[in-house]
Amino acid sequence: METADIGLIGLAVMGENLALNFESKGYTIAVYNRRSPGREHAVDRFVEGRGRGKRLVGTHSIRELVESVRRPRRILMMIRAGEPVDEVIGQLMPYLERGDVVIDGGNSDYLDTQRRVAQAEKAGLSFVGCGVSGGELGALHGPSLMPGGSAAAWPLIKEPFQAIAAKLDDGSPCCEWIGPGGSGHFVKTVHNGIEYGDMQLIAETYSLLRNRLGMDNESLASLFESWNRGELNSYLIGITAEIFRFKDDDGAYLLDRIRDVARQKGTGKWSVSAALDRNDPLTLIAEAVFARMLSALPDERRTAAESYPDPQAQSVVETLTAGQIRAALYASKLVSYAQGFSLMRRVSELYDWRLDYGTIARIWRNGCIIRSAFLEKVTEAFRTDPDLRSLLFDDFFRDKIGQTLPAWRRVVAHGALGAVALPCMSSALSYFDGLRTLRSPANLLQAQRDYFGAHRYERIDRDDGTTFHTDWTGRGGNTSAESYEA
Ligand code: 6PG
Repeated sequence: METADIGLIGLAVMGENLALNFESKGYTIAVYNRRSPGREHAVDRFVEGRGRGKRLVGTHSIRELVESVRRPRRILMMIRAGEPVDEVIGQLMPYLERGDVVIDGGNSDYLDTQRRVAQAEKAGLSFVGCGVSGGELGALHGPSLMPGGSAAAWPLIKEPFQAIAAKLDDGSPCCEWIGPGGSGHFVKTVHNGIEYGDMQLIAETYSLLRNRLGMDNESLASLFESWNRGELNSYLIGITAEIFRFKDDDGAYLLDRIRDVARQKGTGKWSVSAALDRNDPLTLIAEAVFARMLSALPDERRTAAESYPDPQAQSVVETLTAGQIRAALYASKLVSYAQGFSLMRRVSELYDWRLDYGTIARIWRNGCIIRSAFLEKVTEAFRTDPDLRSLLFDDFFRDKIGQTLPAWRRVVAHGALGAVALPCMSSALSYFDGLRTLRSPANLLQAQRDYFGAHRYERIDRDDGTTFHTDWTGRGGNTSAESYEA
């Protein structure tokens, strides 16, 4: 009975492809999928179809699945995040034994994973929340894997997980242990937030190149292909070139026929809410999430377009070049990664996860959606200084910002004057200018708060944390509000 090395629940495309990937590395996989009414059983379809002749054990109940896997069991769930995960864990519990490992490979909320790790450990089991990135092809040929949770699980899953993961040129796997609790799923959440940022930045680049430089799909494709041979080399730039060129059945460009309404499944939003909870200025990813939300309001956009038919775009004397737009994209991307890694640091410090940022950047260098040449520089920055507070303080990136800054400013100004929305490029520049401003206007905010609500302020001539209240009107008296921070 107990013949399989790994059990897998959930035979949607990611589950099937991961099962085939494990199998191709010599593992025997027991598979299970809930029977959906009126449809042929997914297990039989898979085992007789794509899985024919392979080391797969089709099972038709949770119990049969568990009993097919040798102990200590490794059971991977590839199911929809949220309640289904708790349901399946509940169904597994009666059959699992001490030391067994349950792995959730979905895009789960890391706070749910924290809770599930604690619950499983109480029952003598191990639980792993594993970020899986790379889409369906990644799952089949080599994803980037971000496992975290019960430390006892790592020696049991390390070999098979590293075997199926994408590899770097030196053969090292894009899968390392991330840390305790929900850290694996948290790191995947930030990966996805960064993915949203990268995608929105590319979309803004497209908007400028198409609307301001008048480039057509073919020339956009060629430009992106050439960028993909340089420092912007990345999966997303590469697929974007292919998307520009792709033709519909009748020979017209498919991209031009796709509605401009962007959807989302939530991970970008979770990055932003984690940032809000930690008082962390994750501005670029927040703008990327909001840009999708704005796109998804077509009625309001239509009304606004009718209400403001003339945006009073001004002709800009200086022409904009593709090279300047490329520089703005690079600089903004750098800000986004700096913010993403800062968020990881803040949350890691809160939970004492001790995340290794250089390693995280390394396992993102292949297999995942945000894979890029750029990440090699991120790894190097954290290898040079593991305590780096911001990527913007690294020598290499400081030089890059210095080189790109004039073009970046010009592009953002050009967008404003030319009525092209650039939420991420412009917020990245504002963040950068805000960060490097020694004397910000926040003194005025503090004065206003104290004026209308007696909220107290600190003084630049007293740096001992003492707070002050002033009776600004002569009618306020000396009573001040309690000083506390949200
Ligand atoms: C990955 C992706 C993937 C994500 C999709 C869709 O790393 O392989 O991040 O996990 O589900 O990109 O995400 P949205 O629907 O939120 O755009």
